[in-house]
Amino acid sequence: MNKIKTTTIIDGKLIAKKVKDEIKAEVAGLIDNNDQTPHLVAIIVGEDPASETYVASKEKAARSVGITSSVYKYPAETTEEELLKTIEFINIDDEIDGLIVQLPLPDHINVNKVIEHINPDKDVDGFHPINVGKMVIGQPSFISATPAGVMELLKRYKIETEGKHCVVLGRSNIVGSPLSILMSKKTNPGNATVTICHSKTIDLNSITKQADILICAIGSPQFVKADMVKDGAVVIDVGIHRIPAETEKGYKIVGDVDFDDVSRKASFITPVPGGVGPMTIAMLLNNTLLSFKKKHNI
Ligand code: GUN
Repeated sequence: MNKIKTTTIIDGKLIAKKVKDEIKAEVAGLIDNNDQTPHLVAIIVGEDPASETYVASKEKAARSVGITSSVYKYPAETTEEELLKTIEFINIDDEIDGLIVQLPLPDHINVNKVIEHINPDKDVDGFHPINVGKMVIGQPSFISATPAGVMELLKRYKIETEGKHCVVLGRSNIVGSPLSILMSKKTNPGNATVTICHSKTIDLNSITKQADILICAIGSPQFVKADMVKDGAVVIDVGIHRIPAETEKGYKIVGDVDFDDVSRKASFITPVPGGVGPMTIAMLLNNTLLSFKKKHNI
């Protein structure tokens, strides 16, 4: 008899809640033993509405687990020098465990210079070259939140990755590149054979069709269709886009994957919204807790 094929929709919202509940319990325990709490600072420059929404969500989530959260808001005209000075103060402030500078920054500010100015021990975004370098050579470091969230979903759903062919669509510094490294490491999840595809890849479909695990971080709405996916593949969608739709709001949120089409073939798939997205904030809070524990030798 043929085995019935099922598709599991990965519930990122549920896993993110579990991670946050675990953080909340741990923070409560730490406060019992110590009158300090972990403290996360977010710097935002300018008035990008998406950035303001992200930062507000981070602040709300931090407070919900007992992590102190502060947001430093600066006008778009803020000079690079002023921003670097603020970072210097935060770097040496013993009461602050984590610092993120929300991206994108206004064009007159050099992003790399800003990231390199953050104390790597407080770089809970995991963007500083020291943290990226440590991740590459397998040393403990802050892993940026979205890649860490994807790895956590694979772990909690006990998805086998060892020896599998993982194809990563996209080579960004924030998602595609770190995930390609993490999936190739001698870890679990990990130990996969990894191929990275990008805008110059020739015959993309022939490669994506070989993927046991397909990670989509290409930045193009509903780009991945069923004919690009092998039967039974694990499909992870990191994209998030607003597209016009006949809804009350006039739009809907979709990922890089055409979910209705691809979910017919996948063994596991992350939806958008409710897949990888909620994990990002949970893992940022986890990094803040790790930073606090490291400072206190816990
Ligand atoms: N902008 C979009 N995603 C991120 C993120 O993860 N961290 C920061 N600092 N800015 C972002």
